[in-house]
Amino acid sequence: MSELTKVFLFVAWLGVITAPLNSSAETITTTENPTGWILRTQSSVYQLAVAGDGIVIPVYYGSQGNYTELNGVRTHVNPKVGSTIRDVPFRGGYVDMTPAVEVIFADHTRDTELIYEAYEILELDGFPCLRVDLKDPVYGLRVSSHIRVLPQLDILEKWLVLKNVEDKPILVENAQSGSVYLPRDEYDLVHLAGRWGQENLVKRTRLTQGVKTIQTRSFRNHENPPWFAVGPAEQMSETGGSVWFGSLAWSGNWRIDLEQFDSGNLQIIGGINFGDTAWTLDPEEEFTTPKIVFGFASDGLGGASHRMHEYILDHVMRKPQNSQLRPVLYNSWYATTFNVNEEQQLALAKIAKEIGVELFVIDDGWFKGRNDDHAGLGDWTVDEKKFPNGLQPMIQKINDLGLDFGIWVEPEMVNPDSDLFRAHPDWTFYYPNRTRHESRNQLMLNLARRDVCDYLLDSLSRLLSENNIKFIKWDRNRPLSDPGWPSADPATQREAQIRFVHNLYHLIAELEKRFPDVLFEVCSGGGGRTDLGIFSLMDQAWTSDNTDPVDRLMIQHGFLHAFPAKLMVAWVTDEDWHRARPSLKFRFHSSMAGVLGVGTDLTRWSQEEREQAAEMIDLYKEIRPLVQNGVTHRLLSPFDGNRAAVEYVTPDGDEAVVFLFNTWETLQGSTPTSLKNPSVRLRGLDPNAEYLLSIDRKGRATGNTLMNIGLPWFLNGNFSSAIVRLQKTD
Ligand code: DGJ
Repeated sequence: MSELTKVFLFVAWLGVITAPLNSSAETITTTENPTGWILRTQSSVYQLAVAGDGIVIPVYYGSQGNYTELNGVRTHVNPKVGSTIRDVPFRGGYVDMTPAVEVIFADHTRDTELIYEAYEILELDGFPCLRVDLKDPVYGLRVSSHIRVLPQLDILEKWLVLKNVEDKPILVENAQSGSVYLPRDEYDLVHLAGRWGQENLVKRTRLTQGVKTIQTRSFRNHENPPWFAVGPAEQMSETGGSVWFGSLAWSGNWRIDLEQFDSGNLQIIGGINFGDTAWTLDPEEEFTTPKIVFGFASDGLGGASHRMHEYILDHVMRKPQNSQLRPVLYNSWYATTFNVNEEQQLALAKIAKEIGVELFVIDDGWFKGRNDDHAGLGDWTVDEKKFPNGLQPMIQKINDLGLDFGIWVEPEMVNPDSDLFRAHPDWTFYYPNRTRHESRNQLMLNLARRDVCDYLLDSLSRLLSENNIKFIKWDRNRPLSDPGWPSADPATQREAQIRFVHNLYHLIAELEKRFPDVLFEVCSGGGGRTDLGIFSLMDQAWTSDNTDPVDRLMIQHGFLHAFPAKLMVAWVTDEDWHRARPSLKFRFHSSMAGVLGVGTDLTRWSQEEREQAAEMIDLYKEIRPLVQNGVTHRLLSPFDGNRAAVEYVTPDGDEAVVFLFNTWETLQGSTPTSLKNPSVRLRGLDPNAEYLLSIDRKGRATGNTLMNIGLPWFLNGNFSSAIVRLQKTD
């Protein structure tokens, strides 16, 4: 807030209509004098008001508990300054916040003013949604701000719709999805960061005055997935403290900015990353931003994750098969890489079936000219040299074994050495006078073009209709570069990155409509595409190319902050990342904490290894409903010492499964840490019930003992692990 604003504003404490949250009609209430709205969830309150100058201002966002004390509305505004703290911050007048709306009108005016016009409380898919309409008093820009409330989950979805109601175009230079304004405090930020092979590492930092941005500019989110959690400094723990958290539904370039002001207030704003992008809003045209999701939890980072997991599973993932358990899959990538043929895939499939796998997936290498990563991408027809009879005879044999069949594709890419590129060199992103930068010998198709989208829809539809394919692994192995589209008009060229994502969503949605029983797995050179936009279409995610079971505990620990275990695919492999050679049992246990897969050359496994694998897969099938549908409790972080533990429990606490891991038992790890921590306290159980313990630890204990005294830490030595199942006895 500017000093001027501070001087001239005074605080008026006004009576507002407050009502407890006991019906959905009371989720959103209105206030009069000033005009405003109060949005309530189980644990939070979000309040807005119309200030004296007509600007909609944020009044409060935080816990129910603090709300009663802080309930006040600033409405008087010095007209020479205007309201500078805004719920939809715009470029215009004093720009004291990170703006959500930045436009240029036809007469070159770059400032706007967004003044309250009307509101409506809608019901969208069974939940109340406040729409507040804002208008520029002079120019034909209308902005409708939407806030949909999911009260039980303490979640608000925000998005904007911009409309041009004048007869000349308006250039949108920035349209963020939504902003929130947190109470004065000192805040810590927890977010995820990493790189290829090291995705989702948990980072924690103090926010100081200024802006902290997490973002992607490369269409890949290895560096930062779109997820954050903030809470008062030092107070946010796994099980306690206030946490504001959120995520974004956008699979292209995005940004989330956290701006800490001198006042101590914190703004969090996010949406499409408009660097290098602008959208021309033609007369009567609307532009809808993707959704940003904000949530509030008073029970720490764990509570934030519980809400986010439930939100993703019940409100983001909308496909009917979402309720089904994910199959145990086998993927042949590490076994055969590009060198695939029918005989060898069938040999693998046979063993996969013997050990209990349900879905066999052929990875890269099956299509025309694909002998290594130099050629073939773009030509989605089978390589007749490798499969002279096509794929279907092999698929039939795999189906006859009792396995479903899945296939790898990378539709958004093309190799210069491909029939597609030779026929359509202009179908990639490029600038005529610049290098076409390659990565993994491939270019990015310009999916912003409808003809490219149509080509992919046709060729993938053909693949899916000619072959009995029940699973697609959809990969993307390079970042964005050179996003030029020279044949489009200049305005459309600036829209390419947004149009690309719109067409990507259209392409996947259309394929899903045509082939409704196909499961989709998202992959991007490991786990480089995890966001709420892609999960509204795809059913699970390849988490990382790093399959080392200890590294995976860390990667999975981070992943589970933002996304549920039902999306987290984890294969058992023989890949040797650190020359550490953990046992097969340890590798299985690490992978069984997510969606289990096997990804190794099974022909090299001994009979004994195969038998052990079969036992593990059997066990996984027993505990799978708990892992995939249970409530996740991160009991011990692999970053905090030499052990890790994660628990999945039914919502009613009747049943649970706990995974325990000793990683490297060194002196550093095993003396003080172990002594301090001789047991692990479970969560989410019924304190008054007795539980039967089975699998790697047998016995009986009450929920109270298990949660307050804990399960004794019975593992010894490097890479030892255990699974303990708990079932209520009565
Ligand atoms: C990258 C993926 O992460 C791997 O699992 C594999 O599918 C390769 N691409 C294939 O090229």
